Amino acid sequence: MAHFPVTVVVFLIVTFSGIVSGGRDITGDILRLPSAASRFFNSDAAVEGTRWAVLIAGSNGYWNYRHQSDVCHAYQLLRKGGLKDENIIVFMYDDIAYNEENPRPGVIINKPDGDDVYKGVPKDYTGEDVTVNNFLAAILGNRTALTGGSGKVVDSGPNDHIFIYYTDHGGPGVLGMPTYPYLYAEDLNEVLKKKHASGTYKSLVFYLEACESGSIFEGLLHEGLNIYATTASNAVESSWGTYCPGEYPSPPPEYETCLGDLYSIAWMEDSDIHNLQSETLHQQYKVVKRRTSNDNSAYGSHVMQYGDIGLSKEHLFLYLGTDPANDNFTFIDENSLRSPMKAVNQRDADLIHFWDKFRKAPEGSSRKVKAQKEFVEAMSHRMHLDNSMKLIGKLLFGIEKGPEVLNIVRPAGQPLVDDWDSLKTLVRTFETHCGSLSQYGMKHMRSFANICNAGIRKEQMAEASAQACVSIPGGPWSSLHKGFSA
Ligand SMILES: *[C@@H]1O[C@H](CO)[C@@H](O)[C@H](O)[C@H]1NC(C)=O
Ligand SMILES: *[C@@H]1O[C@H](CO)[C@@H](O)[C@H](O)[C@H]1NC(C)=O
Repeated sequence: MAHFPVTVVVFLIVTFSGIVSGGRDITGDILRLPSAASRFFNSDAAVEGTRWAVLIAGSNGYWNYRHQSDVCHAYQLLRKGGLKDENIIVFMYDDIAYNEENPRPGVIINKPDGDDVYKGVPKDYTGEDVTVNNFLAAILGNRTALTGGSGKVVDSGPNDHIFIYYTDHGGPGVLGMPTYPYLYAEDLNEVLKKKHASGTYKSLVFYLEACESGSIFEGLLHEGLNIYATTASNAVESSWGTYCPGEYPSPPPEYETCLGDLYSIAWMEDSDIHNLQSETLHQQYKVVKRRTSNDNSAYGSHVMQYGDIGLSKEHLFLYLGTDPANDNFTFIDENSLRSPMKAVNQRDADLIHFWDKFRKAPEGSSRKVKAQKEFVEAMSHRMHLDNSMKLIGKLLFGIEKGPEVLNIVRPAGQPLVDDWDSLKTLVRTFETHCGSLSQYGMKHMRSFANICNAGIRKEQMAEASAQACVSIPGGPWSSLHKGFSA
């Protein structure tokens, strides 16, 4: 089934490269103020309690290089800030540094001229131990709930500050994992409530990069938990990969993959250069929002904030520490604007990788054939999912109403769905007949949610899915061998 005429592929490639190029200028200089003034503002310099961090990359595969690269960078930042290894818990699949595609074995970079960020990163939870269950258990500090891994958990007390950073693909109400199942918004928010109820932190900051990441907290993260969250995008838009091949700035030519994500590098590159004793969460939010919006171009997203917004008047130092080398680099509003960025929709970054690999491989080489096969498989999986969903909508709600129902967006402030268990049941029912949603298919979660909100039962979904998908397509993306995503 993965045998498309080459002309189709070429057409797709051409259309596609037209879609992703673009971006606009943001001009500005980096101003560095030598200043001891910051000392006057160090109200929380004498931080009580311990700083904890949980860092997680939810993907694997070389085409997702950037997520693990983001996490490694975050680790280096926290170490320079003074956090100890025993308080930083890292989840990453760890298939990048020594991947056969990596032009610099054992090295990971997060920007074109960047240093190695891989060195020294603790391997707490790698490979198949990067699971929803372990991630939630680590946050809760529940060692008995762990399977595999280093056993490191957030063993925090009432005066401690916790920072959680997640980067990966996502969709409405869902975050990806390199293993199945994926992480659903309700499960995450329930765990945060439970952590709060256990009285084991003073305040918690959550930075989240994923497509539709606003939907993870929209209507779900309530005030009063002492949690402040920002997300790379609102509930209805993609987030963006950056430092991608063919963009500016682009990775070194030997890299056929994006090196970072727009929101992620925005908060980290800002934190890298400032005295974080004098920069507040709110100041960083504004800088990151501006940079991630890419001057409101179509190649950017809207950074959002949720939870106890009042916490954002605190200094970043409380969560990230600060690098003493930056003591004299006080944050001022304008000094974090950078050169123009171009960006690639997260969901297209895998295609960029396969295409760049295809383009650069020698004519007639097995590498070229392989890259073409990968590209075509990814594209045909997308078409299969898109078409199946559309058809299921029509079968359930009629030719005209189907597309309308699938695309409903609830008003801001409302969660995606009322009954998360039945949402998961519908997803499993679909996957039984149509194959795995996989990372691309998460984009359809709003359609599943709307089908659920319309009161469709499992039996009706099974019937429609069976009609829409006569069989599960072959190919790695559709395979259910690792289990259901819900
Ligand atoms: C820790 O996890 C185990 C296994 O899932 C569970 O039985 C136990 O209740 C959990 N402990 C706490 C304090 O939540
Ligand atoms: C900051 O500036 C002061 C005064 O000029 C100087 O003594 C100190 O070494 C500087 N600190 C750093 C980390 O550069």
